[in-house]
Amino acid sequence: MTQTLLGGLSPTRFLRDYWHKRPLLIRNAVPGFDGLLSPLAMQELATRDEIESRLIQGSGNDWQFDHGPFKKADFKRRPKTDWTLLVQSLNHVLPAADALLARFNFIPHARLDDLMVSYAVPGGSVGPHFDSYDVFLLQGQGHRRWQISEQTDLSILDDVPIKILRHFKPEEEWLLGPGDMLYLPPHVAHYGVAEDACMTYSIGFRAPTTDELGQGFLMHLQDSVALEGRYADPDLRLQAHPGEISRAMLAQIESMIARIRWDKRDIAEFAGRYLSEPKPNVFFAPPEAPLSFSVFKKHASKSGVVLNPKSRLLFIGGRFFINGEAFDSAADETAALRQLADQHRLTTIPAALRERFYDWYESGWLEIDPV
Ligand code: SIN
Ligand code: CO
Repeated sequence: MTQTLLGGLSPTRFLRDYWHKRPLLIRNAVPGFDGLLSPLAMQELATRDEIESRLIQGSGNDWQFDHGPFKKADFKRRPKTDWTLLVQSLNHVLPAADALLARFNFIPHARLDDLMVSYAVPGGSVGPHFDSYDVFLLQGQGHRRWQISEQTDLSILDDVPIKILRHFKPEEEWLLGPGDMLYLPPHVAHYGVAEDACMTYSIGFRAPTTDELGQGFLMHLQDSVALEGRYADPDLRLQAHPGEISRAMLAQIESMIARIRWDKRDIAEFAGRYLSEPKPNVFFAPPEAPLSFSVFKKHASKSGVVLNPKSRLLFIGGRFFINGEAFDSAADETAALRQLADQHRLTTIPAALRERFYDWYESGWLEIDPV
């Protein structure tokens, strides 16, 4: 299946030759694919508070940008051309979207962001731009003309509400139809214009900046570092200026601060928690009428369990991280937990995991497998 998805390339070759390096057009990447939901169903999602949505209208130097949630009426009086509706994290609300993401399992889950869908009327686009992330752009219904460029001039227009390249110079152009897919590494300029009413599914990845990681790590250290001692100056000398902070005082402060240390374990603990943290707008809803523990156990052993699509479960050796929390697995839990982290579902539940899974079920992190 991955072979079709990657146009005959094995995941190993794709990673070696294209991932994070160069664009790849894959005709008929998902044979028979013509989308996961109708424009109307997408518009309904864009009216919900908990769903991130955007509406972009314009062309040339003239762009308009609005954030959702929208009202149904907002879509009734729209022009026939030149606008696009974008809905983020479709995989959180549509099981078929989560299943589509699972096809991209050849990229580590820690890198995965979400599945975004766009609906554009003829002429609709988000303008020529570049992104800082890798993306697979899978065409659903309709047709979109993509132009791309590996130009180095990435300057953007001032005074427009979205990021639009000032000088876009297309180098290649393709018309994508249902099932076709375009992979783009970060910073490749691209411009996709709807030929007819069309929907495009963007499989997007996370790539934190060094600054984000650094800030996050400092916050993590704040909770994990405990330093002994207190400022002491038994050899204090009389200062000419009592208002001055002396060199001796600064030297002592420097050596106290230099006691802040971290090792590979701190980095791993931080990385696991940070990378498994859902985005700040993600909330988990506990089940409305929760099963008792004994009924949960019975159903879970019969049908298995699935992770809630919003949950992020990652591991480093036997240490597991789920939605920003960490725990060590016992020897008889590790293999099953790894399988759940890799596949997001587990059919045989070891007895040792039942209570943990029930806690996760009560938090809305995990569900009984509905199939
Ligand atoms: C779109 O689907 O219209 C935009 C996707 C992108 O350019 O990143
Ligand atoms: Co883009």
